Amino acid sequence: CGIVGYVGQPGAVDRDYYALDVVLEGLRRLEYRGYDSAGVAVVSEGAVDHRKKAGKVAALDAELAASPLPNSILGIGHTRWATHGGPTDPNAHPHVVDNGRMAVVHNGIIENFSELRNELAGKGYNFVSDTDTEVAATLLADYYNKDAARDLTAAMRLTCRRLEGAFTLLAVHADHEDRIVAARRNSPLVIGLGEHENFLGSDVSGFIDYTKQAVEMGNDQIVTITAEDYEITDFEGNRAEGKPFEVKWDAAAAEKGGFSSFMDKEIHDQPAAVRDTLLGRLDERGRLSLDELHIDEAVLRSVDKIVVIACGTAAYAGQVARYAIEHWCRIPTEVELAHEFRYRDPIVNEKTLVVALSQSGETMDTLMAIRHAREQGAKVVAICNTNGSSIPRESDASLYTHAGPEIAVASTKAFLAQITAAYLLGLYLAQLRGNMYADEIVDVVDELQKMPEKIQEVIDAEEQVKKLGTDMVDSSSVLFLGRHVGFPVALEGALKLKEIAYIHAEGFAAGELKHGPIALIEEGQPVFVVVPSPRGRDSLHSKVVSNIQEIRARGAITIVIAEEGDESVSDYANHVITVPQAPTLLQPLLATVPLQVFACALAGAKGYDVDQPRNLAKSVTVE
Ligand code: G6P
Repeated sequence: CGIVGYVGQPGAVDRDYYALDVVLEGLRRLEYRGYDSAGVAVVSEGAVDHRKKAGKVAALDAELAASPLPNSILGIGHTRWATHGGPTDPNAHPHVVDNGRMAVVHNGIIENFSELRNELAGKGYNFVSDTDTEVAATLLADYYNKDAARDLTAAMRLTCRRLEGAFTLLAVHADHEDRIVAARRNSPLVIGLGEHENFLGSDVSGFIDYTKQAVEMGNDQIVTITAEDYEITDFEGNRAEGKPFEVKWDAAAAEKGGFSSFMDKEIHDQPAAVRDTLLGRLDERGRLSLDELHIDEAVLRSVDKIVVIACGTAAYAGQVARYAIEHWCRIPTEVELAHEFRYRDPIVNEKTLVVALSQSGETMDTLMAIRHAREQGAKVVAICNTNGSSIPRESDASLYTHAGPEIAVASTKAFLAQITAAYLLGLYLAQLRGNMYADEIVDVVDELQKMPEKIQEVIDAEEQVKKLGTDMVDSSSVLFLGRHVGFPVALEGALKLKEIAYIHAEGFAAGELKHGPIALIEEGQPVFVVVPSPRGRDSLHSKVVSNIQEIRARGAITIVIAEEGDESVSDYANHVITVPQAPTLLQPLLATVPLQVFACALAGAKGYDVDQPRNLAKSVTVE
């Protein structure tokens, strides 16, 4: 979601704009962060007034034209990417509470919201939306009127201490026409400094048209801004310092967070995409709790076959899922392209669980395939990134990936988030069906929680891979090899290069090499090889190392992705890209990243528009 806040100086300064102008402009720039609903609230003459609407900011504009808000120098706004509750008018932000006197916008996921909701319902509060935000807003209002004695900042502190999960919150109250109080935990928020006016934004694009002076704030901090000042504290009330910086980007680049393309930005979003997808689904004992999976547990226990259906990148995520699900759950699992599944007369019945993977939730091939599966009695779980889209709507249950909006046509962060969600589903089934001991699950969960940090390490080392991409700009063919979960990673690496760099690229199972593809190897042929962990199944690692030797001997230029500390590959590799150690099944979350960076850099070096490659569409809504 995208968030904006503005406070100006009453009367003293001659300006030709009001809070609403600033907030709407900011929302338009932040729309890339989500656009399924938008809303604004202003405070003037001792009252809070707001408008909100499902749809893009343009729909809100129309609403405001029909029903204008008063001119004001204090306002907040929000553009939403739905997580809890579908993209409807009531679920849009701001949420207005305290008899219409307080407005709150929120980005993130409050994990303990149902517990808090019950507590507040017990105190007599009613809720009009399905959102976690309304719960946070109600809690804030409760503290404001009672324990915090009408001090908005103090109320925010008390509220934040009760919230679990990730959040950015902005609040305004009719009693305080001069201030916005905001808080953040693991969710973005920056302060913008103007003259006799100050700003808040999810990122600097929220206010880039007005100022380039910004202040970064830390995690678990609260800021109160007025037109002349800002004050940061932690959740206990201790003063904290922000980190001032000057924004170097222009307004257009700001939407991409200063990155050269959305794809580049989305590659960098991946630690957060994986972290957010895990959020709220693991309890402190390392157990899986997938409340959203509204399928009878008895049905899930009786499943005797899983069929994963998807297209494109999502289908490769499905292939990774198969290795994990079969290993953890011992349920036979097939992966099939949705359009092939649909017309093959597949054998599915009440005991089949179909898992449909789709970023957009609108891919027609996948939609048709799930309809077909449900007609034969199969239960369908959608793993999807877009709340309220067709595929989750037509499925029996949905597990949302929380990757945030993906703008670049070539999928990156949605892929990692799909794999993460599929791991969660696999572990959940194993837990439910008793296929794994509780402590085995805890071990995997622990490793899974370390992945966002490890992905960040891979990204931090991207310069080496970017250079490789620019150096290899004239390649006419690139091959990718992998085994086990490295095989779908190889396929995805090849797909990225085809999609955005228009280079002939193929992914192969490394073991298949000798059965044909090795004939393609000639002097100078670049080949990426994804090497499994040497700490995993020993034979798997040594087989891949032999494959590298075979192609190297025939003149290939070998670019090897290997685990840190794996010394066995350096003698046969022209280039080694290292990734942190991880259990074999989780390695795709790391090994894929350099391949994305490589394709993005190479296509960029060719001067192509990496975000909108020729002939492709982000969501293919025809069969
Ligand atoms: C299109 C896109 C691909 C995407 C595939 C599946 O072909 O160009 O990038 O992987 O659709 O999309 P979905 O939204 O269902 O994940």
